[in-house]
Formats: sequence, C-alpha cells, structure tokens
Amino acid sequence: MSDTPRHILVIGMGAGDPDHLTLAAVKAMRRTEVFFVLGKGPEKESLTRLRRDILDAHLTGPYRVVEATDPWRDRTQEDGARYASAVRDWRHRRADLCERLISEELEPGQCGAFLVWGDPSLYDSTLAVLEDIRRRGAVAFDHEVIPGISSVSALAARHRVTLNRVGRPIHITPGRRLAEGFPQDDGDIVVMLDGHESFTHLTGRGLWIHWGAYIGTPDELLVSGPLDEVAGRISRLRAEARARHGWIMDTYLLRRRPESEPGTGSAGGPARHGADGAHGGGDS
Ligand SMILES: C[S@@+](CC[C@H](N)C(=O)[O-])C[C@H]1O[C@@H](n2cnc3c(N)ncnc32)[C@H](O)[C@@H]1O
Repeated sequence: MSDTPRHILVIGMGAGDPDHLTLAAVKAMRRTEVFFVLGKGPEKESLTRLRRDILDAHLTGPYRVVEATDPWRDRTQEDGARYASAVRDWRHRRADLCERLISEELEPGQCGAFLVWGDPSLYDSTLAVLEDIRRRGAVAFDHEVIPGISSVSALAARHRVTLNRVGRPIHITPGRRLAEGFPQDDGDIVVMLDGHESFTHLTGRGLWIHWGAYIGTPDELLVSGPLDEVAGRISRLRAEARARHGWIMDTYLLRRRPESEPGTGSAGGPARHGADGAHGGGDS
C-alpha cells in the first residue's frame, strides 16, 4: 500500500435545486478528479441525471465519473433491533463497495468526491461508511466534508417558515419512529423518510402541516394547512406523483397548533414549480 493518501471530499449538493449548491461545493468540485456516484432504485436515473447536470453546469476542466449501484438493503425489517441490523449489514456492503472504488479508481495523491444528496450530516451514511473503511486500514485516505442545503432547510424556505418556534425544540425523525410514539414535549416535528404516511394517523390533535415533495425540482409539490383538512389531499397527491414518477421523496413539518407568531407562517410559500395547477403555491 502506498503511503501517499488519497483525498476524499464529501460534498453536500442540495436536495434538488441546482442553485442550492454552495460556492464551497463548487470550489470543491473543481478540485475533484474522480466523482463517485452511487444510486439505486427507481429514483436512480433522475438523481444521477441531476448530479450529471450539476457537474456539467459548473465544471469545464477534465473529470471522471464512476457510477456504482448501491447495495441492496432489506427494507422488510421495520422493528427496532432487526431494522438496526439490516442497516448495519447494508452499510457493511456499502463500505466494501466504496473501499473498492477508492482503491481501484483513485491513484494515491488523487482527489475523489462523493456527491451527497442534501447535507451529508442528515440521514446519510457516507460519513459512517468512510469511517468504517478508515478503520479497516486497507486503503489510506483523508477526507473533508462540505455541507449542503438539506431538504429540511429547503422545505422551510419554500413554506417561508422557521422550523422552531421561540425557545422551543424541534425533532427531526424518520416516519417509522413517529409511528412508534409522538414526542411528548412542546417541540415541532420534521418528518423524513416516511414511506407509510405516518401523518395520516395523527389527525384529531390540532396539528398543522407544511409538506413538500421533490422540493427544488421542476416537479415540486407543496401543501400547507390544518392536518385534519389536508391529510387526504396530501395522500392523493403522493399516490398520483408516485404513480407518475415511480418514486417519491417528501418531507414535512408538523406544528403543534396553528400559527400566530410572525415568521412562522401558515399560508404556504410561493412555489416556483406548480404541478397539476392545484397545489403549486403551497396552498393552504
Ligand atoms: C436518505 S434521506 C437524505 C436526506 C438528505 N441528506 C438531506 O439533507 O436532505 C432521504 C429523505 O430526505 C428527504 N428529501 C430529500 N430530498 C428531498 C426533496 N427534494 N424533497 C423532499 N424531501 C426530500 C425525504 O424525506 C427523503 O425520504
């Protein structure tokens, strides 16, 4: 093994809008010689195309893209211990793949980058996988993280709301954990990775929802309103959109009760990209 380390950049690229790339991300991309792009499932094609468009828009010099298919993950295990073990197993196989990419596709001394959806610190395994590879010690590299605009920031901006209310906490949770129990304090809740529409089980509590799907892309959908009134509409929009695209990525903020404080907004933001003419504009 050569002593000269490879250099790895983990670049947050925003959650869909190419304009959400930061200047630091563009500078980092311009230092990169090889881009590693991992993808899988029905969304792979769209997300890979978006990454390629971003590279074309910002890079003029030579670079190489290495695409690889993310290892399969067992998504049938939903309960606590089995879920954690399925994720561990998947991360291990992801580490095998990334270790091979780094050692075979990057020369010692060269700079490679992983383009990470949104921000690398939020529900993304790239950093954990790189730590795992470093611990194994088979390939020497150092790494650097360039933060990105997360889907959570993009959601709040599109709805023109703050995530927290004055002096209160916020929770960020995957949908599956919300199904196990509703946080008991007075904080508001951001829900991600919710394939099962957990919000449909939370009506009757006086909650307000700010929901967004494909945020920042031309297919963006936004809905805000009292959950009891809009839950059915969000479910219908999700079903239609999923049927149309074959996949969906959505995130939402649940407020404990309707807004009255300035800056916490409730009327919905000015969506640039409406769809079906009915819900672009963050209708309430
Ligand atoms: C694996 S997590 C990755 C999160 C990402 N690191 C971030 O900073 O947004 C994927 C989840 O992020 C959310 N998400 C990512 N991009 C989104 C988008 N453009 N619109 C809405 N939700 C999005 C969805 O909740 C999706 O299930």
